Amino acid sequence: MESIYKSDVIIVGSGIAGLMLAISLYPRKVTLVTKKNLGEMSSSAWAQGGIAAAVGKDDDPNIHFKDTIEASSGLNNEEAVRLITKEAPEIVKFLEKINIQFDRNEDKEFLLSIEAAHSKRRVLKINGDQSGKFIVQKLIAYAKLQEHITFLENVSIDHIVQNENKCEGVVGHINKTDIVDNFIFLQAPNVVLATGGIGSIFAHTTNPRDIYGEGIAMAARAGAELCDMEFVQFHPTALDIGLDPAPLLTEAIRGEGALLVDDLDNRFMKSVHEKGELAPRDIVARAIFNHKAQGRSTYLDCRHFKKGSFKKMFPTAWEFLQKANINSETDLIPITPAAHYHMGGVKVDLDGRTSVLGLWACGETSSTGAHGANRLASNSLLEAFVFAKQIAKAINHEPLSPLELKRINIENYFPKEKTLSKIRAKKYIWQLRSTMMRYVGLERSKHSLEQALIEFDRIERESKHLSAKLKDMLLISRLITYAAMQREESRGTHYRSDFIKMNPNLNKRKVFTANEMNLFVANYKKQYLDKIA
Ligand code: SIN
Repeated sequence: MESIYKSDVIIVGSGIAGLMLAISLYPRKVTLVTKKNLGEMSSSAWAQGGIAAAVGKDDDPNIHFKDTIEASSGLNNEEAVRLITKEAPEIVKFLEKINIQFDRNEDKEFLLSIEAAHSKRRVLKINGDQSGKFIVQKLIAYAKLQEHITFLENVSIDHIVQNENKCEGVVGHINKTDIVDNFIFLQAPNVVLATGGIGSIFAHTTNPRDIYGEGIAMAARAGAELCDMEFVQFHPTALDIGLDPAPLLTEAIRGEGALLVDDLDNRFMKSVHEKGELAPRDIVARAIFNHKAQGRSTYLDCRHFKKGSFKKMFPTAWEFLQKANINSETDLIPITPAAHYHMGGVKVDLDGRTSVLGLWACGETSSTGAHGANRLASNSLLEAFVFAKQIAKAINHEPLSPLELKRINIENYFPKEKTLSKIRAKKYIWQLRSTMMRYVGLERSKHSLEQALIEFDRIERESKHLSAKLKDMLLISRLITYAAMQREESRGTHYRSDFIKMNPNLNKRKVFTANEMNLFVANYKKQYLDKIA
């Protein structure tokens, strides 16, 4: 027998987007669902860089707007960029009101850092590189005081429940339980997906292991429109010591003067871009990738930093290095690009509405158009905050429609057959992640994308009864690959070795549904791939 919960709004995900939204939805009754214990799982908590906001004396939201547009290689929704850059100082004020203390100097002015492609120092941070961790902690503490929020921990959401094309809730299951019949039905007229991005579908990522696009997969299966799926941002400097996920070394380290060098002590970024180490993130990541492909090793060099300053400015990075027995004062730090952020996702309007009635998306799960083809560093937490407020405003404006106690047949949503054991699924998950890294990673071509499609089919065939996670990961991989095939140009994070130039005629965001992708892939296979496979 399944359990049934009812509320005005269900939020799936407990990162900054989910928490801020839950807080802002007062007085609506909110149920916030999270897979693990609150605070245990989100990319937000791992964010090191901080929040970009034009709060410096020499700065202005218009300059922040211009930098965001410039870094993004087109394809922005300019209204979304205008919104986040204009709202940024207000968000900072709100966060200070709930007792979030950003780093300040002795004169009590914000200690702002600079990251790639920002023309001003405008990144607010907490305890150096621990912004995400502290913000999430404070938001949780604040949210727990709010009576309108109910937390459901250790619950995974599997499906969106629809009735006559309207979202009416979600079906999930309780994790970590011996109860056999552990399904759960959460009924509400509004469901917001805030499950983060897709990092873990790539072999190298800075995201937590459970971040593999499940919110996007759920929305895609419910028929929601998706957008910009081809644009995956690789962070240039993940610590390269064979850990999965790879520890992030914040871009602010380069902002403070760290150099990128190879094993010949060559500062290779100097010949790639006038801004050198602080060139836009896609350019730096690709330069490192190409350098490695040519057999060179790549490093971050901080040996010239003032003694003791690295540890003080970047305590998280320092701890990672300590564990790896690397001393930034005397050693070079090995680095590699790793999947970090997805500009694509569920297409939403400026209020966070998807194309499915009653379904909303927030944060990295959504695609607002604020980041174009390449996100400006530290704009992601900002976007999550601003859009959480937008969604809350929109839902709070809607008339409160008490849910009729309609009997919805949710049995259809429960799994019919036993799926792959976790151990067996792991093998295929790893094969899929390696395939994505190799064929759909920093460099793509028609040939590599076709190879990826062939591999997806093989994995699906051999793994037989897919686990829910593998099924989601395959769907996300196909969606990204499909979008990458359609974009026959190089732009921002999407680089095609067979179309190396940007094509001004393709300055249009690609919007599509999972059905369109399935149809294309089926036809493409019949026409071309079945002969190769
Ligand atoms: C970083 O600290 O380099 C990451 C910041 C971001 O991804 O915005």
